[in-house]
Amino acid sequence: MHLDNWGLKAKKLGFRSRAVFKLEEILEKTNALKGCKNVLDIGAAPGGWSQLIKYKLKTANVFAIDILDIEPIKGVNFFQKKVEDIDLVKDIFLLKGKINLVISDLAPNLTGISVIDEANIYELNDITLDVAVEYLSKSKGVFIIKTFQNSMLKKLRTKMISIFDDVQTFKPAASKKQSAEIYLYGAFKG
Ligand SMILES: C[S@@+](CC[C@H](N)C(=O)[O-])C[C@H]1O[C@@H](n2cnc3c(N)ncnc32)[C@H](O)[C@@H]1O
Repeated sequence: MHLDNWGLKAKKLGFRSRAVFKLEEILEKTNALKGCKNVLDIGAAPGGWSQLIKYKLKTANVFAIDILDIEPIKGVNFFQKKVEDIDLVKDIFLLKGKINLVISDLAPNLTGISVIDEANIYELNDITLDVAVEYLSKSKGVFIIKTFQNSMLKKLRTKMISIFDDVQTFKPAASKKQSAEIYLYGAFKG
């Protein structure tokens, strides 16, 4: 497997994915970890983002879910479940309204047929946004979601603007220029 500089850096530091540097840049620019206690990582496998949160904030309670299983990470409570069934995870359900940061790197399986893929991405993003709003603390809660530049992006961003007090868009340096991926940030300021 070919590893670029970000991939090599991730390997050297013991992170499971190069995606950690994309999240790190957004966390640093937004100061999203300040005062953070409970973090929910949606679509967490293989676990890079959860590793990064634990690395940067040792005291954080990290809850993570994915359809796929992961190798255990010290201090991370992982549940093998799809985001659609998150309410069935009792330990997470008990934290409704108490999560300070929800991060989602979810990506559906692609069919290669853009109209279907864009609809699937939007549907999954929309479910994740609804979950984030239910679980986040309305006092300074932050949501960071990976999505894609396509015909549905505006709809997602507009919905986030109607919910959050502050919405920002990021294309981190570690995200390949030719990749359509893009990151949205939403924060409650209350
Ligand atoms: C790009 S990977 C996440 C990488 C991770 N952030 C990291 O740094 O290691 C996207 C993940 O989304 C998961 N996923 C896709 N659909 C899902 C769903 N409906 N519910 C939960 N996880 C899902 C996939 O299984 C995959 O592991």
